[in-house]
Formats: sequence, C-alpha cells, structure tokens
Amino acid sequence: MSRLVDADPDIAKVLREEAERQHRNLELIASENFVSEAVLEAVGSVLTNKYAEGYPGRRYYGGCEVVDVAEELAIARAKELFGAPHVNVQPHSGAQANMAVYFTVVKPGDVVLGPNLSHGGHLTAGSPVNYSGKFYSIVAYGVRRDTERIDLDQVRALAREHRPKLIIAGGSAFPRAIDFAPFADIAKDVGATLMADIAHPAGLVAAGLHPSPVGLADFVTTTTHKTLRGPRGGMVMCRAEHAAALDKVVMPGVQGGPLMHVIAAKAVAFKEALAPEFRAYQRQVVANARALADALLTRGYRLVSGGTDTHLMLVDLAARGITGKEAQEALDRAWITVNKNTIPFDTRSPMVTSGIRVGTPALTTRGMREADMARIAELMDRVLSNLGSSSVEAMVRAGVQELTAGFPLYPEHRR
Ligand SMILES: Cc1ncc(COP(=O)(O)O)c(C=O)c1O
Repeated sequence: MSRLVDADPDIAKVLREEAERQHRNLELIASENFVSEAVLEAVGSVLTNKYAEGYPGRRYYGGCEVVDVAEELAIARAKELFGAPHVNVQPHSGAQANMAVYFTVVKPGDVVLGPNLSHGGHLTAGSPVNYSGKFYSIVAYGVRRDTERIDLDQVRALAREHRPKLIIAGGSAFPRAIDFAPFADIAKDVGATLMADIAHPAGLVAAGLHPSPVGLADFVTTTTHKTLRGPRGGMVMCRAEHAAALDKVVMPGVQGGPLMHVIAAKAVAFKEALAPEFRAYQRQVVANARALADALLTRGYRLVSGGTDTHLMLVDLAARGITGKEAQEALDRAWITVNKNTIPFDTRSPMVTSGIRVGTPALTTRGMREADMARIAELMDRVLSNLGSSSVEAMVRAGVQELTAGFPLYPEHRR
C-alpha cells in the first residue's frame, strides 16, 4: 500500500477506508464475499499489463507464453471443479457470460423463456432496460403464489405455447435449490436450448450441496465472485459441441482482450475451491443461512417460501409496514449491510420493494457460525422494530462492533 500512498494519497485513502468498512460492517449481501489474500495478489499483479486476445496457444499477440499457463490452469481447474466438458474463463462479468450464450444461440427477435425479475430472475433474463429485453422477445415464468417456488407447470405450459429457442434457469434471489432436470425435460420437449445461470449457488454446486446443471443444460454460466469466492468475473461452461461457437462469440464476438490478471485470480480461486476446506466452508454457509432463517422466523418475520435451502433468504417486510428501502437504510446506519429486494408479486417498485435479501457467504468466510447468526437476527430485529430510532441504531452499532471484533478482516489493508 505504501507506494500508492505516495503516488495517490486520495485513492490510497479510499482503499484503506473500504477495507475498514468491510471489517466494521456485518456483510449480508448475498452476492458478496471476501476473497483470499492470494486472490487479491493475483488481481493486483503485473498480468494486468498483458494483451492476450485469442486463446492459449492461438493468440493475436506475441509474448503470451506465460499468461497462457494461467488461462490453461484456470480452464483445467474449472473443468475439474464442475465436471464440465468445455469452459471459457474470459467473460469479464456474469452479464457478459450470459450475453455470450445469447449471441451463440439466439438471433434478435427470437423467443426466450426466462425467470420473472420480480420473482428472483436477473436483469439479463429479459429486463426491458437490459440488452436481453431489448433484443429478444421475452416470455417470463414465475413462482407459485402458494409455495413461492418455481412453477414448473407454468414453465412447461409457456414453453409449449411460445416455443422458445432458449430457456433460462437460475437467478439472483431464489432461496430454494433449483432442480435442473425438469427444465432439461421441458427444453427437450420443445426443442429449446437450456442455459442454467448458477451465478449465485456456484460455490454450493462445486461443493456438491446444490443440484448441478452440468450434463443437463447445454450452457452453464456463472459469476466467479459470489459463493465461489473468486475475483469479480464471469465464466461459461458448455457441451463440447458448442465449444467452438461459444469461444468465437466471447472473443471476437463480444469482448476484446481478456483480463489476464483476473483469469489468474480465477485459477487461484478454483484451486482453493478444489481443496476439502472449501466444501466445509460451503456446508457452513448453508448451515448459517438456516440458522439465520430460523432465528428470523422465531422473531416473527415472514420468509419467502418459508425458509432457505441455499446461502440466501428473502425477508418479506410488508406485514410490518416497512419497505425494503427503509429497512436497508436503517440497517446500513447500524452497520448491517443488506439489499432491498422485490418479493414475488410485490406491489412496490424495485427502487422501494417490500423485502430485503440476506445471505451468509461473506460472514461465513470471516468464520462466523450458527450462534453468531442468532445474535445477528437479534440485532436486525432491534433496528427493524425501532425504525428510525438513532439511540437503538447506536446500541446496535456497539453490538455489531463487539461481534466483528472477534473476526478480523484484512488487517494489513486497514493500516
Ligand atoms: C443470476 C445472475 N446472473 C448474472 C449476474 C451478473 O453478474 P455481473 O454483475 O458480474 O455482471 C448476476 C449478478 O448479480 C446474477 O445474480
């Protein structure tokens, strides 16, 4: 950090303060995690200097023999981790991984069947403000009103009626495990390509704690920075028969030079994920999510679908007369970080919402366990039951500080 302090004290201060904020707050955003020092080192390395358009052994630039090793390792490790026949580790993000599959499989105007955004789907599954909603004719499926779980009868009926070219399974706010087998059945039935987006549960999938779509879906996309605990980025896996077409779409179709420093960091994260400790970590992520869900239920909160099978839950605050926005802001003031989130059949806008999404990957990385989750539910409840009370928020901040002090994060980045 010392060289940055001299070169740019303003940005050095941002880095220090952000490390301090990450240490100080209870991070419950379900899509975030804390990477290892090894991953950080790879991301902040000289590999950022290298142009390497193309793929290992067939680049458009000279001098790629060293970075080729990083990409080959990332590919080999990802294949081993997920049992995938082909992997492209170059997508800069999850949105671009999904774009690569769209551009490989569908033409503008084609019908795509994907999850409703307000029922848990991601922007890239057809939001009108996203490329997916602008280029394709989107048909959305959702969850059932009674169970708040994906309505597979509706998926089948919509598929038969609209004959989509592409079906998407997976999203950003499904607290329940997704069974990909019925999706594969439906896709086969109507002659559609199936894409599973496992950006959220990828770490659980790698650890064998969530059903895997590999072998069932034609394409599997993911981010590498959520439960998988790698650097910010994306990845696509696919059947061997789609490999050449996919690679051509990723580069030169939608991207130029790959981020070799990030690809090296993906390789590091995949090595970590192949170690037995990673499975233990993911087990604890799920155990912590259950403990937090149980503690919130005990305190009278309603959870969408009644609970969770994964790393995340959706808390419905409508009955408490609180919006997701108010809850997020009050919890933030008390150093508890969550995000507002629509709940299925929400009557409020995505900027206001009736719920919050809460996840355990980041705090589990810090070493927290079930008893800590019960304490966190208590702290959250105090804030939400006394909305806007600055004295309660101050008391909760003291409780948060007591809890986080036992789980130091990035000490050398905070100096
Ligand atoms: C299911 C899903 N797909 C794709 C993405 C997009 O990832 P990124 O933010 O890296 O573009 C996300 C991000 O939240 C996601 O939850």
